[in-house]
Amino acid sequence: MPPPREAPQAPVHTSRARDRSNISTEKIPQQFVREPLSSILVLGATGRIGPAVARHVATTAPGVKLRLVVRSPAAVAELQDRFPTSEVVCADYLDRASLHGAVRGMAGIFVVTPTFLDERSAMTNLVDALAAAGSVRHVVRILGDVLNVPLHRVPQVLRDYGGGTAIQHMTAHDVLESSGLPITYLNIAATYMDNLLRMRSMLRAGQWITPIDRLIGYVDPREVGEIAARLLLSPDSRHVGQRYNVDNGYDLMRNSETARMLSEELGRPVELVVSEQRFIEEMGPRLDRQYGREGGGRYMVEYLKFEEANEVVWRRTDFAEAILGRPPLRLRQWIREHRELLAAGSTNPGLGPPHPDHPTV
Ligand SMILES: NC(=O)c1ccc[n+]([C@@H]2O[C@H](COP(=O)([O-])OP(=O)(O)OC[C@H]3O[C@@H](n4cnc5c(N)ncnc54)[C@H](OP(=O)(O)O)[C@@H]3O)[C@@H](O)[C@H]2O)c1
Repeated sequence: MPPPREAPQAPVHTSRARDRSNISTEKIPQQFVREPLSSILVLGATGRIGPAVARHVATTAPGVKLRLVVRSPAAVAELQDRFPTSEVVCADYLDRASLHGAVRGMAGIFVVTPTFLDERSAMTNLVDALAAAGSVRHVVRILGDVLNVPLHRVPQVLRDYGGGTAIQHMTAHDVLESSGLPITYLNIAATYMDNLLRMRSMLRAGQWITPIDRLIGYVDPREVGEIAARLLLSPDSRHVGQRYNVDNGYDLMRNSETARMLSEELGRPVELVVSEQRFIEEMGPRLDRQYGREGGGRYMVEYLKFEEANEVVWRRTDFAEAILGRPPLRLRQWIREHRELLAAGSTNPGLGPPHPDHPTV
């Protein structure tokens, strides 16, 4: 593996694109320039990515009608406070009627789903609702597939678990592709940087317990949201129909290297402990809660082994930089920004106190 890049490298694309995102129309041949979308719907607006989509649209395109979807009526007021110029509505992927109301009249749709959602039902409901609304011009959907691995190569033990990251995005992709809708897929070929916050109790105790010294890229979920928003706002119609892999273009590294970086930035040792059994003991209960089913620790161990068996496909890409128009956030910068939160710890195993910028970690 080549060493991680320590400083932003010269991008492959033109120097002009380096400081200007593709929002500019001047490089787009006229036949591919589209009219701006007049409205954008954000599903998953209470999650890690949805708020960043909403923030970018609200701040850079205030003329675009913004509608945010929450599941629970209890979450409406807080989101309305955070995004006072938007409309906040309640809907559930698994409640067909609620989706029909949410998508009515909307042109741009941002779609993110939680792990272990029943994607066949959810995406079928969404496709039905969008077809009935007849107003959609562009959907951006988050995927999380291990690169280039078709369903028949996913280990049986993962398929038998009943959904999850290993297979759910393939199911979603199948339903969405057969709909003929205008979709851009953002396949997250990395781990979200704020996953580190989910381990802060372990980190505070000076250990990072993992079943595998995993090789993985990183990306800030806030920048994933901004990328999704930029694609929806882009005048370039050629993003429709594409599938992009997303990483930050720099931090493709093993957990042992990340542990060294954490030690340096937190000013105290973080030891990487590679142990399946200790990982299941430490993270199992928390993953069971997150997945809503037992055996979450074992599932994650098997998932990481599956990923390791395919890790040769991971690559650093310049996609995020090209769309953002600036070098994406590096992991070291993210750790510095979150030093206090990472040090906060918690009495819950594997879980620290909630934080407004990171509501689901
Ligand atoms: N973790 C990673 O490093 C990683 C890497 C690659 C890809 N991914 C993918 O990234 C995606 C997002 O990650 P995440 O799980 O952390 O999600 P997230 O964006 O933090 O949250 C999911 C959002 O979906 C909403 N939601 C949940 N169930 C819903 C339902 N039935 N109907 C409508 N909305 C619903 C949640 O709302 P509530 O507040 O109501 O629950 C929340 O706003 C996942 O698909 C994952 O596979 C993750």
